[in-house]
Amino acid sequence: MSDKRIATTDGGNPAPSLEHSQSVGPNGPLLLQDHYLIQKMAHFNRERVPERVVHAKGGGAYGVLEITEDVSQFTKAKLFQKGARTESLVRFSTVAGELGAPDTQRDPRGFAMKFYTEDGNYDLVGNNTPVFFIRDPQKFSDFIHSQKRRADTHLHDNNMQWDFWTLSPESAHQVSLLMTDRGTPQSWRHMHGFGSHTFLWYNAAGEKFWVKYHFKTDQGIRNFTDAEAKAAQAADPDLHIRDLRTAIDRGDHPSWTVNVQIMPFEEAADYRFNPFDLTKVWPHEDYPEITIGRWTLNRNPENYFAEIEQASFEPSAFVPGIGPSPDKMLQGRLFSYPDAHRYRIGPNYLQLPVNQPKNPVHSYNFDGPMTYRNPSDPVYAPNSAGGPVAADPSVWAGESYGVAGEIVRHAYEPHREDDDYAQPRALWEKVLSDTDRDHMVTNIVGHASAPEVTADTKKRVVEYWRNVHKDLGDRVAKGLGVNDAA
Ligand code: NDP
Ligand code: HEM
Repeated sequence: MSDKRIATTDGGNPAPSLEHSQSVGPNGPLLLQDHYLIQKMAHFNRERVPERVVHAKGGGAYGVLEITEDVSQFTKAKLFQKGARTESLVRFSTVAGELGAPDTQRDPRGFAMKFYTEDGNYDLVGNNTPVFFIRDPQKFSDFIHSQKRRADTHLHDNNMQWDFWTLSPESAHQVSLLMTDRGTPQSWRHMHGFGSHTFLWYNAAGEKFWVKYHFKTDQGIRNFTDAEAKAAQAADPDLHIRDLRTAIDRGDHPSWTVNVQIMPFEEAADYRFNPFDLTKVWPHEDYPEITIGRWTLNRNPENYFAEIEQASFEPSAFVPGIGPSPDKMLQGRLFSYPDAHRYRIGPNYLQLPVNQPKNPVHSYNFDGPMTYRNPSDPVYAPNSAGGPVAADPSVWAGESYGVAGEIVRHAYEPHREDDDYAQPRALWEKVLSDTDRDHMVTNIVGHASAPEVTADTKKRVVEYWRNVHKDLGDRVAKGLGVNDAA
């Protein structure tokens, strides 16, 4: 007997031929009864799910989070207890590029993590920068439209980007970081990850704290210059996917030191910056970073589509001990991601192996496309048949806190030192080296010199950077040839 494996249809029937369609005579027309051909062609037409509306191009791997320090005084979350080891998945990405876009374009990098905890999934869907371009979700789709392609020409347009940014002064901090060489990392292994938002932590006694996450690369930061990044785009558009995959294959497992900043709950009210404003960091002199553990990537996916393309991360996936803050951007994202997954993957996206939690699920949601998890019986609550019951109120109790106020459409109440330019100015003045500054100027000038950027926009670009720092604005003016004696 032959030991060859026999190809089959998806239904397991032996394949009649891998090369020849069924026809009426060798030269005749094909037959509708050739269900094997039809299954192949029909399935091929359905090989794609829609690409993510943002962060379409990416790659990922599995790893483990290990907690080495005792932070039980701040959170009761089981994954953050000393000695805990939690399996996790990460997906790194660029923001604006489509599925085939080069990995090395200037862009923030997505840093989306899923932790498979015993209390269900905890997702931390961050970026490689600690801040973001805007502070209200109302502006998110407009912001993204300005970064992607024009409706008329289907071309990217740097004028749209600078138009939006210069009319949105809250973007100055994130655009500053983007225009340094950190906007073009050499690999995903050589960049930090940030939860970016402020989150709520609460301990077993119900005491509350605000927290920010920093995943600091143990490989060291490595960036490309603008010219190197452009060369890398031509040489290998998939450089970052390849780099991560080959590093893990050769046993060179990248790791990150996991740090947090902790703010006692009551200090938020009169902190000098609004601690929930996503365009701001918490300066280290106020809230130093505390190391709590290490996160290591050690396993590549076996099926890119099943495990990475269909991976679904959602900032709304919290476990007891962790909750949302009133950051308006985070609040908007709590809705947006599960909604995106229901559209992109389908309503049962949480039943896919990569997304399903590792603990047992006893949900009263059932049926819908591609269901295979058994529903609980009975399928309604309350019931008298001993069906699953809600968690004890103490489990989630710590996340509650009081709020009051008029219903308004309003900017945040300003805190003492809130200013869109103060923190990017600190970056320019205190943090960047002379070389970093030189590259930042070159990168801005290169970007804003694109032929489509109008004279009016260029003037606003200069003003925007002068607001960050006069020297920076003057150098940009010189580079762009804007002659406005300031
Ligand atoms: P610190 O001097 O204590 O911290 C500066 C931070 O900047 C460090 O986290 C440093 O860590 C990071 N950094 C260093 N070089 C660069 C660079 N080229 N691009 C981006 N980040 C860099 O000062 P403060 O906490 O008072 O922050 C000052 C400014 O630093 C902020 O306004 C912000 O722009 C920037 N920053 C602050 C962070 C924070 O959470 N406080 C985090 C990241 C940036 P590392 O070199 O390891 O990245
Ligand atoms: C992806 C919306 C802000 C990080 C996405 C997706 C949507 C979205 C719809 C695609 C999801 C999918 O199809 O799988 C929003 C909205 C925002 C916002 C409405 C603001 C209101 C942010 C911020 C960050 C961020 C502030 C980081 C701090 C990411 C990442 C991904 C992503 C990393 C890719 C996740 C993955 O790898 O699957 N976002 N986003 N987003 N977003 Fe956001």
